[in-house]
Amino acid sequence: MATPAVRYDPLDAEILRDPYPVLAELRMRVPVFWHAGMDSWVLTRYADCVRVLRDHAAFARDPRRTGGTVPEPSLSVQTLDPPQQSPVRSLFMSALRAQDLGAIEHRARLLVGGRLDHLAGAGPFDVVAEVAVPLSVAVVADLLGVEPPPYAEYAAVSDAIMRSMDGGLDPALVEPGRVARRQLSDLVDSFAVSDRPGLLARVRQATAPGSDASARLYVRNSARVMFQGGYSTMAAAVGNAVHTLLTRPGALERMRDPALLATGVDELVRFDGPVQGTTRTAVHACRLGGVDITPRQKIVPLFAAANRDPAAFARPDELVLDRTPNRHLGYGWGPHSCIGTTVAQAGLRALVTAVNDHPAQLAAAGEGVRRRTATMRAFDTLPALLLP
Ligand code: HEM
Repeated sequence: MATPAVRYDPLDAEILRDPYPVLAELRMRVPVFWHAGMDSWVLTRYADCVRVLRDHAAFARDPRRTGGTVPEPSLSVQTLDPPQQSPVRSLFMSALRAQDLGAIEHRARLLVGGRLDHLAGAGPFDVVAEVAVPLSVAVVADLLGVEPPPYAEYAAVSDAIMRSMDGGLDPALVEPGRVARRQLSDLVDSFAVSDRPGLLARVRQATAPGSDASARLYVRNSARVMFQGGYSTMAAAVGNAVHTLLTRPGALERMRDPALLATGVDELVRFDGPVQGTTRTAVHACRLGGVDITPRQKIVPLFAAANRDPAAFARPDELVLDRTPNRHLGYGWGPHSCIGTTVAQAGLRALVTAVNDHPAQLAAAGEGVRRRTATMRAFDTLPALLLP
């Protein structure tokens, strides 16, 4: 069935500023629509998104299941599907569960507190460069058990990779992304000599040199995804969270309450999360939201739209810090849902607590600049000020 023509440009300045009114209109008018630029069916309803994310037999993440190819360096927990993915995912999940997240959160809080001490009284500063980047590099390096790379240098590599995720919309982004991926690979390979305790040491123990070569390849590639994916989403989430809190009077203050801190960090990700959507491919012919999908067609569940769906969330456009339950899709769903959710929650709690514990008061100092990326919603810069 043909769907009505839809104009949706995720890189349009107004949509970058606030995508939610347009997504709400699409969800009402044409909840499943064909997007020529993305060469995909786009899903805006929560129920349709969950159906696709849950049913990995019918909707593939691994392009090889629908006749595509995957370059060797990209074969990881993120591109493989069950059952091949399952042992790799379990390995990383159990190595993560063995880490002391309380200690990681504590060190993250001290780091943010130290940055704020340094920034207090020095005039306006950029939350992204001064808080989001250092916090995210430090948390992910701490989790993995590696020396954190220089913040600004690493942020530049990561940004090039993040931008290249929109290569379908702008082919000029592809080559810088490829170069940055090689730099990232070199960095992650250098982690192999780290003797610090942490997630990677644990994973390494379980994949000793004698083990299967493809298992070792998947693990090495997945370590890269953990570092890069973890850092870039965390940094974007911190910027979005600070923006949400500073533009809603009283919200930050209310998160001094430990119960609201616990539920609030999830609501911040639902309300304006960094990952706008993902891609799957139809394995068989099927119908979604009244639309016929043919095998090998791509499908984009739009988390940003699903997370504001009134059929799934009461008062979807309000920040409800005590929202419970809050089964949002900001961390995905199903066999490819975020492995680092508990770490991200700990990092966001550390951020909010450090800001609330600081004697100076954090305030907005002008409009931020949204990053021109469709897959990831982030700020390039976000000015703020610490008031005595
Ligand atoms: C607030 C911060 C974060 C958000 C919002 C977030 C969000 C997401 C989402 C939406 C997915 C699923 C994408 C899909 O289905 O295609 C995902 C996957 C993933 N995330 Fe996160 N993430 C965050 C932080 C982290 C951190 C800190 C780590 C690790 C240190 C991490 C590691 C991963 C990995 C390895 C995957 C791939 C899982 C798989 O495909 O099986 N994430 N994340």
